[in-house]
Amino acid sequence: MAKKVLLLAATFLDSLITHPADEGKAKKMLDKLEEDSEGEIEIVYRCSRNPEEPLKVEEFEGVTAVIADLERYNREFLSKVGINGEGSLSLISRYGIGVSSIDVKAATDYGVIVANAPGCNALPTAEWALSTILDVAGRRIFHYITASIGKHKEDPLRLDISRKILGVIGTGTIGKLVVKLMKGYDMKVIAYDPYRDEQWAKENNVKYTDLKDICKNANIITLHASTNQTIIRKEEIALMKPTTVLINCARGVLVDNRMVYDAVKSGKIWGYGLDETWLEKDLPLDGVNIIVSPHIGSDTDMGKIGMQLMSAQAVVDFMSGKTPEYVVNREVLEKY
Ligand SMILES: NC(=O)c1ccc[n+]([C@@H]2O[C@H](COP(=O)([O-])OP(=O)(O)OC[C@H]3O[C@@H](n4cnc5c(N)ncnc54)[C@H](O)[C@@H]3O)[C@@H](O)[C@H]2O)c1
Repeated sequence: MAKKVLLLAATFLDSLITHPADEGKAKKMLDKLEEDSEGEIEIVYRCSRNPEEPLKVEEFEGVTAVIADLERYNREFLSKVGINGEGSLSLISRYGIGVSSIDVKAATDYGVIVANAPGCNALPTAEWALSTILDVAGRRIFHYITASIGKHKEDPLRLDISRKILGVIGTGTIGKLVVKLMKGYDMKVIAYDPYRDEQWAKENNVKYTDLKDICKNANIITLHASTNQTIIRKEEIALMKPTTVLINCARGVLVDNRMVYDAVKSGKIWGYGLDETWLEKDLPLDGVNIIVSPHIGSDTDMGKIGMQLMSAQAVVDFMSGKTPEYVVNREVLEKY
């Protein structure tokens, strides 16, 4: 029976309008792998699968490698599909950098290599954070609706960015890029990260501080932390100002949506920007300065090129007997 490579990344086959030379390159790499294998490898495209839907074991029958979107790989599922469990899966190649959708420890226990695609989506996501900051501070949706229905300005207030205080939570790749992109706004930058990069802070005039200080004093707070814990809860919101702009282009879980909704609606804080689908159906966003997007921070032309090529390369390497370049759980390699 042919070994299957499953394609679940929703935008893997998307066209790259600004880079026609790279159009279809990643798919061609996989097609060649299939062709050269003379029937031993089969590539199965299921890019239209909804990543929110829980995975079924049947979908992974005979699957050796998957190019994964944000669908969840928990311990129970990995025990059923992993090569050292009851299944055949040996590689999860993440279409992107984040691996929070995967129980990496369980993957290691069941012999599944987890590879990712670092670097390619950082700048697009930092750009999206910047755009979200401007839109929330400027109440873009409110002003758009006013003008689009033929009304003149009634409540024109919007906030400046320049010369204010920017608070960055999480100073890894994306947090640092946001600081770089925001330089032209001449802001004072304060930051919180349990693992400080003092050298970078010195070179970029960034002052590390604690979470409380950021919540209390920053005008714009932008989250770029790689944890699955909720950082902004009721206690943190209580410290903020009526002019605080809170931005989360990292992961939905970092902020308590219900608390932030109440805070924005009641005017406790100015607004919230979130790059995740809003699933709180009982908390309608109409008229509330909360701007959401469906996790598209990295879905630019450049971001997609990187994710398509890097995720496909990991599969080609693995299926050809090589170790993929970016392995998250390197300890699993001892099992190969
Ligand atoms: N919206 C999108 O499309 C998109 C795309 C790529 C990445 N992301 C998300 O953006 C975030 C940052 O990505 P990155 O590439 O910069 O990651 P990174 O690993 O380079 O940096 C993450 C930083 O967060 C810090 N951190 C961890 N726990 C923290 C905490 N409790 N408080 C403060 N800081 C903490 C880490 O020490 C690290 O410096 C991740 O959550 C990632 O999943 C979103």
